[in-house]
Amino acid sequence: MDTVISKITKIEQCEDVIQRAGQIVRQGGLVAFPTETVYGLGADALNPEAARKIYQAKGRPSDNPLIIHVACKDSVNKIVSHISKEAQMLMEQFWPGPMTLIMPKADCVPEETTGGLQTVAVRMPNHSIALALIEASGGYVAAPSANTSGRPSPTKAEHVKEDMEGKIDCILDGGEVGIGIESTIVDLSGEFPMILRPGAITKEMLEAVVGTVEVDRAMISDSSDVKPKAPGMKYRHYAPKAELIVVQGMSDNVVSEINRLARASEPDKVGILCTEETIGRYDYGLVKSIGTREDEKTIAHNLYSVLREFDQSKVEKIYSEAFGTPELGQAVMNRLLKAAGQRKIIV
Ligand code: TXA
Ligand code: MG
Repeated sequence: MDTVISKITKIEQCEDVIQRAGQIVRQGGLVAFPTETVYGLGADALNPEAARKIYQAKGRPSDNPLIIHVACKDSVNKIVSHISKEAQMLMEQFWPGPMTLIMPKADCVPEETTGGLQTVAVRMPNHSIALALIEASGGYVAAPSANTSGRPSPTKAEHVKEDMEGKIDCILDGGEVGIGIESTIVDLSGEFPMILRPGAITKEMLEAVVGTVEVDRAMISDSSDVKPKAPGMKYRHYAPKAELIVVQGMSDNVVSEINRLARASEPDKVGILCTEETIGRYDYGLVKSIGTREDEKTIAHNLYSVLREFDQSKVEKIYSEAFGTPELGQAVMNRLLKAAGQRKIIV
């Protein structure tokens, strides 16, 4: 299959490109598109055959459900059987934006889209190209991140091309995404809203709107016996080709431990993932900064892209500094530890 790549700089000038892409989705095809979090791989969410194609292109296990993307809040009514008061308040406050809500599904949503579950994940992205595509596609676009299963999520169209060229109909290239890590997932089926995956919308931000918010135990537990409630979180996602190890502790200790560990490998076989604050203190191996601790948005923004850069190198081992503030740092650390298969050294 030839994958058509369409660059979109000014959306007002690309109405025809969007309409064509929408038509591909209506006809059961696959279109990758930018959102504010990561690139998504879109298909008609109400067409079981189209949903099946997504799993095939990504090599994704079929029990891992998809998020349905909508272009306006009212669209949710058709695909869920009930909207709780909390759901209503969260949608009002955070949509369009990087928050996905899990709600009971309506009959029109095929089980292919929900991985056999009776709940459905819904999100209204905050990105003009995404919103225009969803409208042109009939209003309901199922979209996981547009990477091959097990690779870092794509934050640029080039990443999508690396993984998906020849497997999907079209890529809408809207440049680099803003946030760089996937949306916060909030499950509303229990007594209190529960975070199943951390993202740019934090627990504190959610609690300011709906009061008590719980966190899936699997997110905070080091034990692999605790099964995550979001099926996708159980897989070793975001895996770089090299073995990744996170080193956590006081900054000085982390720097000297990473310097020590790195020297056990040949210099071109070892990578170091650090920040602007510490980059001058590493003098061995392939050293990459992912941003500054003063602005964690930069770290979230660059994480997946830098992991992909390491994949292009000869590096066989990567040592990474840890991140973990109550803000975005938690979401970064969650992704990093998953990429590391939970390998962490505390110094
Ligand atoms: O930011 C994002 O959310 C991006 C962009 C493209 O919107 N999408 C994304 O999709 O990250 P994906 O498929 O890579 O991750 C969806 C996650 C998976 O972990 C999946 O298991 C979970 O959402 N999920 C989907 N439906 C669910 C449901 N009904 N109950 C629990 N978890 C669900
Ligand atoms: Mg994904």
